Amino acid sequence: MLGKKAFITGITGQDGALLAQFLLEKGYEVHGLRLYSASTDTQRLDIFSDNGNFHLHYGDLTDGGNLRRLIETIAPDEIYNLGAQSHVGVSFEVPEATAQINALGTLRLLEAIRDTDIRFYQASSSEMFGSAPAPQDESTPFAPCSPYATAKLYAYWLVRNYRDSYGLHASNGVLFNHESALRGEEFVTRKISLAVAAMALGQQESLSIGNLDARRDWGHARDYVEGMWRMLQQDTPDDFVLATGKAHSVRDFINAAFACAGTSLTWQGQGLDEKGIDRKTGRVLVQVDPQFFRPNEVHELLGDASKASAKLGWKPRISFGQLVEEMVSADIGALQGGQSYEQILLAAE
Ligand code: NAP
Ligand code: GDD
Repeated sequence: MLGKKAFITGITGQDGALLAQFLLEKGYEVHGLRLYSASTDTQRLDIFSDNGNFHLHYGDLTDGGNLRRLIETIAPDEIYNLGAQSHVGVSFEVPEATAQINALGTLRLLEAIRDTDIRFYQASSSEMFGSAPAPQDESTPFAPCSPYATAKLYAYWLVRNYRDSYGLHASNGVLFNHESALRGEEFVTRKISLAVAAMALGQQESLSIGNLDARRDWGHARDYVEGMWRMLQQDTPDDFVLATGKAHSVRDFINAAFACAGTSLTWQGQGLDEKGIDRKTGRVLVQVDPQFFRPNEVHELLGDASKASAKLGWKPRISFGQLVEEMVSADIGALQGGQSYEQILLAAE
C-alpha cells in the first residue's frame, strides 16, 4: 500500500477525519480540502498536524479552477468526494448552495479527472431513496424528498455517466446513516447524545426534538469509511449500499441514550404533545418542537448491504448499542473537560 496518495474533499467533517486516519494507518499520503473561513475549525484533524503524510489545502467544491489545479499538483491515486452541504433539513433553506456544492461540485471534480486514471469515490446517500419503501438496496428506484437528496442524485448519475462514457474508475457508495462521537452537533444522534450528557451533569433541563417516529439504519462511521476504501480497491468500479440492516426510530435512539446515563423514560401523549418522562422523578426530559420538523420527511431508511458483503467482504462490526454508548460517554467526557476529538481518535487506534 505504500506510496499511494489520496485526496479527500470534506476532510474536516466526521467521515473525512475517520477516513484520513484509516488511510494514514495504511501508509497513504493524505491530502485534504479545507474551506477557508474566518472561524476555521479543524479540531477533528489536530491529531494529524505533526504527521508528515498529512496535508491540507484551501479550496472549495464551488471553485472548479482550484480543484483542477489541486488535482494536477497533488496527482492523487484516489479521490474521495465527501465534501457536501450535508444537512438535509438545512438544504430546504439553502437549496441553490446545496446544488452548487453537492451536485455541481461533483461535476467539477469529474471534469477535472475525466482523462486520468484517478480512482473516484462519491459519497452518495440513502437519502436518495426518499419515499421508496424499505428495505432499500442497489436496485430500489430512487424517490428523493429534499433538495439535498435531489442534488446527491444528480451527482450519483454523473458518476455512472462518467464511468460509462470515459471509462473512469468511479464508484458510488450509497451509505445509510452512520454516526460517531465525531458527528456534527446538528444531526439528531449527536444532538441527543450531547443533550443526555449535559442533563446527566446537571447542565441542561430537557431536550427539544422533531419527528420521533422517523426510522433510520444507524451504523458506526468507522465501519463505513473502511467500506469506501474497499470500493476503490476493486478491479472494476461499481455502486454499493452500506447499511446495518436494522432500523430504529428517533424515539428508540433517545431511550437508548438515556439508558446509557442510567435514566429510564416513559412516553406520554401523542404528536406535538408527546413527552419523554423520567420514570423515577416524573420530570419531563423530552418534548416535541415543530421547529425541528422538515417540509418533507423521509420516514424509513433501512438498507440491505448484501452486495457489499458478497463483493467487498464488508460487514459492519459496531452495533447500535455500542454506538449509542460510545457517543454518550464521549460527550459526558467532553463536557467534563476530559475528552477531546484528539482523544476520541487516539482511543480507536
Ligand atoms: P459532515 O461532517 O457534514 O462533513 C461535510 C464536509 O464537507 C465538511 O468537511 C465541510 O467543511 C465540507 N464542505 C462543506 N461545504 C463545502 C464546499 N463548498 N466545498 C468543499 N467542502 C465543503 O458530513 P459527513 O457526515 O462526514 O458526511 C460525509 C459525506 O457523506 C457528505 O457528502 C454526506 O453528504 C455524505 N453522507 C453522509 C452520511 C452520514 O450518515 N454521515 C450518509 C450518507 C452520505 P466544513 O467542516 O468547513 O464545514
Ligand atoms: N437533525 C435533526 N434534528 N433531525 C431530527 C430532529 C432534530 O432535532 N428531530 C427529529 N429528527 C429526525 C429528522 O427529521 C430525520 O428524520 C432523522 O431525525 C435523522 O435526521 P438527521 O440526523 O439530520 O439525518 P438525516 O437522516 O436527515 O441525514 C443524514 O443521513 C443521510 C443518509 O441517510 C445526513 O448525514 C445526510 O448527510 C446523509 O446523507
